[in-house]
Amino acid sequence: MKVIRAKDSCEAGAFAAELIAAQVKQKPDCVLGLATGSTPLDTYAQLIAAYRAGELDFSCVRTVNLDEYVGLGPDHDQSYAWFMRHNLFEFINIDPHNTHIPDGITADPDAECQRYDALIASLGGVDLQLLGIGPNAHIGFNEPGDAFIPETHVVKLTDSTIAANARFFASVDQVPRQAITMGIRAILQARKVVLIATGTGKAKAVCDAFWGPVTPLVPASILQLHPDFTLVADEDALSLTPSSN
Ligand code: F6R
Repeated sequence: MKVIRAKDSCEAGAFAAELIAAQVKQKPDCVLGLATGSTPLDTYAQLIAAYRAGELDFSCVRTVNLDEYVGLGPDHDQSYAWFMRHNLFEFINIDPHNTHIPDGITADPDAECQRYDALIASLGGVDLQLLGIGPNAHIGFNEPGDAFIPETHVVKLTDSTIAANARFFASVDQVPRQAITMGIRAILQARKVVLIATGTGKAKAVCDAFWGPVTPLVPASILQLHPDFTLVADEDALSLTPSSN
């Protein structure tokens, strides 16, 4: 595991954007695994700026997003499809046909999960997977549990995740209770993994995940086993780690 220490979330976003930019320059038709939530917003803003400056070309890039809420279609303003369009895709020269997100309003979620894994395989797997981390150390929506689930699957969101994500909705009751998430296998098989963690709210999750034992009770801890894993974290997110004390 490599740790890149940033002074704040803005600098963390810039460091992560540099890693993604290097990937796109090295392999213009790379497959990027992308995340939503507040954490990657600085990163996406930096990528948009690099595109506008003529430094990056996304015309051949393919993307697979980690997850989508069950029940929210792409026109719902809290769907992850909407998020990706309005925070990245509309502002760069990516071909919308090359962007992939699980279908939250499918009639058959289990079939959609199988389709998504087959899609990732057909793209040749993920070159660089970008992740955030939940306060309970989830990655994608792989929630703490008895076992790591390899495949894309439908997940019942934990109360902690529903509470954490309520800030994006008018009330906690409107937060969907289920999501489709990429499983641990596709994440671990990505050739590079970059996880961004910022803020004191992530400090315990970061300490448990990367300075504690590997356990499905702390889903992000599995990344300790990845051969090319980079943690990009700000001082606040690293504040509970042994190296900070
Ligand atoms: C989002 C995702 C989640 C988030 C995590 C942190 O696609 O997969 O794992 O990365 O919940 O969310 P934020 O960044 O909002 O704190």
